[in-house]
Amino acid sequence: MLLIAIESSCDETAAAVIRDDGEILSEVVASQAKLHAEYGGVVPELASRAHMERILPVVDQAVKRAGVALKDLDAVAVTNTPGLAGSLLVGVVAAKALALALGVPLIAVNHLLAHVYACRIAAKKDVFPCVGLIVSGGHTSLYRCGHPLDFELLGATIDDAAGEAFDKVAAMLQLPYPGGPNIQRVAEHGDPKAYRFPRTFKNDPENLNFSFSGLKTAVRYQLVGEGKQNFEELVISEEHRANIAASFQAAVVDVLATKARHALQKTGMKNLCVGGGVAANGVLRARLERDAKRFGFQFFTAPLSLCTDNAVMGAIAWERYRAGEFADLDLNFEAGVVRASH
Ligand code: KG4
Ligand code: ZN
Repeated sequence: MLLIAIESSCDETAAAVIRDDGEILSEVVASQAKLHAEYGGVVPELASRAHMERILPVVDQAVKRAGVALKDLDAVAVTNTPGLAGSLLVGVVAAKALALALGVPLIAVNHLLAHVYACRIAAKKDVFPCVGLIVSGGHTSLYRCGHPLDFELLGATIDDAAGEAFDKVAAMLQLPYPGGPNIQRVAEHGDPKAYRFPRTFKNDPENLNFSFSGLKTAVRYQLVGEGKQNFEELVISEEHRANIAASFQAAVVDVLATKARHALQKTGMKNLCVGGGVAANGVLRARLERDAKRFGFQFFTAPLSLCTDNAVMGAIAWERYRAGEFADLDLNFEAGVVRASH
């Protein structure tokens, strides 16, 4: 049996054809990164327009590359939560039309659980029950996941997402968007201990939320003091840029790794699954690998293409299919985060 998974929650238009044994027959991702680069972040209105243009060609390509025909599909899966309203809407409408036209079931995919499931796909073995840490441009959340469809939100950012902080600090440092990979590259030449930036909530194991706005402000003060900022005109030496990037990255990594450990302690779980674009960060991965050995848990993540937004992780839809959890054709999108499965 075959399903097509459609993903359009943020700035990637993606589709994948996936067999019920988990085999990926095709995957297509049309990234909008270049489109949003000049604005230093995702512009929702531009994102939904770009999805409109790309959604049908992307679905078409996914089917062709899989070497099948539309009529061979047994189900249509689509990300309907969380994400940008206008972006989610495009995928949901396309999926509903396709499911209706083909007369096959429609399955709703929770994007954040799909990010956790990406670790299951990469590991090729069961990773549940686990704590899921989703760190991307739009989210920084910790979940307790009993199984792929059983989840509970343990904590989330109360302001910026980790990736958003990377992107904003990169802009201050005159580095291009997306900021994460550029900060990581520049930080290699810097001293992570040059500045002791704030690590909000780090020492409070009971509080599994995150906050990055204080860190962002601390970086700003370090660069321009408390006066007016005009980052474009600022002259920053290579050394200063590298030291700030390294110290900022160290603070984010320290908080993410520590809160993940607190979540493992609180839930008693032994597996940690990390997904989302920031999971690509080499320093974060190295720290979690060290922590896993030191504190006795298993750390799972996925290759970069499976960490950033994609439709392959829509393979989680087969779990819903097997559980008989189908969506009606009046399925709506939900921009906000769903907190629990029950
Ligand atoms: O999951 P993702 O592709 O989708 C969105 O949330 O849009 O994540 C993108 C985010 C961006 O904020 C980007 O700066 C960050 O992931 N990112 C990284 C790295 N690679 C991407 N952050 C830190 N280190 C990286 N190597
Ligand atoms: Zn995502």
